[in-house]
Amino acid sequence: MQKGADQPIVMSGIRPTGFLHLGNYFGALKNYVRMQDEFTCYFMVADLHALTTLTETKELKANVSRVLAENIACGLDPDKVALYCQSHVYETNELYLILNMLAYVGELEKTVTFKEKVKLHPQNVNAGLLTYPVLQAADILLHRATLVPVGKDQEQHLEMTRNFSNRFNHRYGDVFPEAHAFNYGDELLKVPSLDGAGKMSKSENQYATIYLSDSDELILNKVKKAKTDSGTDPAAPMSESIVNLFNLMKLVCAPDVIKHYEDTYQSGTIRYGDLKKQLGEDMVKFISPIREKAESIRNDAKYLKEIMEKGAEKARKSAQATMLLVRDAIGLNYY
Ligand code: TRP
Repeated sequence: MQKGADQPIVMSGIRPTGFLHLGNYFGALKNYVRMQDEFTCYFMVADLHALTTLTETKELKANVSRVLAENIACGLDPDKVALYCQSHVYETNELYLILNMLAYVGELEKTVTFKEKVKLHPQNVNAGLLTYPVLQAADILLHRATLVPVGKDQEQHLEMTRNFSNRFNHRYGDVFPEAHAFNYGDELLKVPSLDGAGKMSKSENQYATIYLSDSDELILNKVKKAKTDSGTDPAAPMSESIVNLFNLMKLVCAPDVIKHYEDTYQSGTIRYGDLKKQLGEDMVKFISPIREKAESIRNDAKYLKEIMEKGAEKARKSAQATMLLVRDAIGLNYY
């Protein structure tokens, strides 16, 4: 599809909190890479959002560099999309402030993510944490984006974004379109964890999650230790840990390899050790080029600076156009 001026606008943010894993890749990044050829895309590293929970910022720079490098290594092209840091686009702060006047304290206090964070950090319940969804709305509305590729946990924030923008439009005049969560159909893949239950995530068991920065040896080891079961009775329902292993194979193994193990499962001759060895090797083949590319980008400070500048420039251009409309609609235009 040819990208044109009237293409829908996609916007999403990635928190710079540590390492990307296989779940991030198949659940988000892979979709971003597809979107960059079909839509006008703004992908942003949410460094200001990170400040709502960080009190120590020594690692911020390294984390921002890593996230940028890993995104590019996964296929995001800084020439096709605006890939930028939130803190570089000052218009975000102005829109955030204006939207704060359209956000009710009561609704902010009821936000699920806020309540979770209050529990997690009772000693640091700051106003930024309370208004986290307002800042997120500013990120999205700044580009008048309509499509926001995010996971389920972000849907409440998007609903709030729609509430704020509808209130704005109602009070001051139509400026913002409605933003909705967007992913390609059912393709929002859940990547199962290696410990037999749930999906891969940052916070859970580190050994059950494969990171894009894991060494070959570590990947092989993690897969080797993945949970299986002792039964090979094909008549019994497949246990969750085995279902998970087959689902992981579908992400990185060739169809004939998968078929081989499905057949041996059916005939009761499957050897899970072999399956895991194959899965580990294919996982290494998949991840090692990404890891190496990310590493070389991360070590190229000049290149990183260039892409950040280029991304910020594109984002500012769109942000400034929106802010002209916002100020006009409100009547903050005295000359
Ligand atoms: N809150 C999002 C998360 O926790 C990150 C984010 C910040 C975001 N700004 C955004 C997502 C704008 C989508 C759009 O993952």
